[in-house]
Amino acid sequence: MHFRTIIEPFRIKAVEPIRRTTRAEREVALRAAGYNLFLLKAEDVLIDLLTDSGTGAMSSEQWAGMMRGDESYAGARSFYRFEQAVSEITGLKHVIPTHQGRAAERILFGSMLKPGDIVPNNTHFDTTRANVEYRQAVALDLPSPECNKPEFPCPFKGNINLEALEQLLKEQGDKVPLVMVTVTNNSGGGQPVSMANLRAASDICHKYGKPLFLDACRFAENSWFIKVREEGYEHKTPLEIAQEMFSYVDGCTMSAKKDGMANIGGFLAVNDDALAQRAKNMLILSEGFPTYGGLAGYDLEAIAVGLKEALDEDYLRYRIRSVSYLGEFLSGAGIPIVQPPGGHAIYIDAKTMLPQIPQQQFPAWALSLVLYLEGGIRSVEIGSVMFGRQPDGSEKPAANELVRLALPRRVYTQSHVDYIAEVLLYVNKLKDRIRGVRLVEAPPVLRHFTARLEPVAGALVVEG
Ligand code: F0G
Repeated sequence: MHFRTIIEPFRIKAVEPIRRTTRAEREVALRAAGYNLFLLKAEDVLIDLLTDSGTGAMSSEQWAGMMRGDESYAGARSFYRFEQAVSEITGLKHVIPTHQGRAAERILFGSMLKPGDIVPNNTHFDTTRANVEYRQAVALDLPSPECNKPEFPCPFKGNINLEALEQLLKEQGDKVPLVMVTVTNNSGGGQPVSMANLRAASDICHKYGKPLFLDACRFAENSWFIKVREEGYEHKTPLEIAQEMFSYVDGCTMSAKKDGMANIGGFLAVNDDALAQRAKNMLILSEGFPTYGGLAGYDLEAIAVGLKEALDEDYLRYRIRSVSYLGEFLSGAGIPIVQPPGGHAIYIDAKTMLPQIPQQQFPAWALSLVLYLEGGIRSVEIGSVMFGRQPDGSEKPAANELVRLALPRRVYTQSHVDYIAEVLLYVNKLKDRIRGVRLVEAPPVLRHFTARLEPVAGALVVEG
């Protein structure tokens, strides 16, 4: 093809109206929500970039699959189609459906961890960390050193720190029942992990007799980055690359709400027979029988189709391009973002953008509120509200203060992206007048979901 424009590789069959609000209405909505974007009503949001999880548009093939859903309690046809789709990609022996990713995490950690254990990961996502800590184990982040330099571009910034991993296994291996690698590294900026890094991590784990697990939520996006950035993979298909990635691990947890292209669902897949048995026993307690695991038959069908669609080259090219397109706009205007743009989201570096706000006043949280106030855009803070509270109750500022703009899959068009960029450019002009926030009330764990806050200066944006 001689044409440069990368188009959305689909046409739109069903539309859902979105509603404009005035700034004054959004001010009222924010106050009512305790200055917490999670507590807003979605209908008061114009463009919702809170998450790429479960918010994607399904294809006509997925909807057709849903009509074929077999709702038998045990042994449903839909389960076997789901299992086949997962096996083709992962090659893992036991496929255990769960209602979403965190259920797979809870069951895995519930089957493997005891108090005092350590679970290393390139960077734990919030639910992964919480599920490890719930078992009174330690969730240890071992990101590659580049990861903490937001504006430093590097092709595989999601890599796990191999030296630190080996040192940990050498010195405290008896406390490490498993190692995890998250692809792409969500909390670290949606950054990919290279095949070389994964292979080396696998070699280290197996040298010390430790199983390696993938947190595989965005495995297809990671495959695409390997294809376009890692030597030797340019002629491989995303499926072949994904298969190689999974060949290095002993199991995975997966949220099908991301690269499963579904609105709900997930799975745990493992090779170890005894572990699979323990996990299935736990599954029956809370999720359901092992051939449905908390999902309807039609959900299993949607995931079976979605996993394949996520690996389609035209889709991945468009997906990754729409994120980098937004990133180029913002960095072109001098807005500091994590470089290079991630797979599913742009991460704005609020610590650099708003130096007037100390970390104790949550600069990324404040910026996310201002994006809503000024433009009706909902994003999410990945900073000290999310990660600042330590398991012992003390406070420690997060390494980075990021605002994540996550793009749902196949939902927004290029003009939506242009609008998002325009709002950001506008907010960037008033950045010196943005002030911080403080917590008014917060639960002890996963506080970002339900905490209530208030602006320290009485307003988020003060008069200039
Ligand atoms: N692991 C990673 C890397 C994730 O990003 C998520 C979810 C999970 C596990 C848990 O999966 O939501 O299906 O239970 N991330 C969403 C997000 C919520 O917004 O990034 P889940």
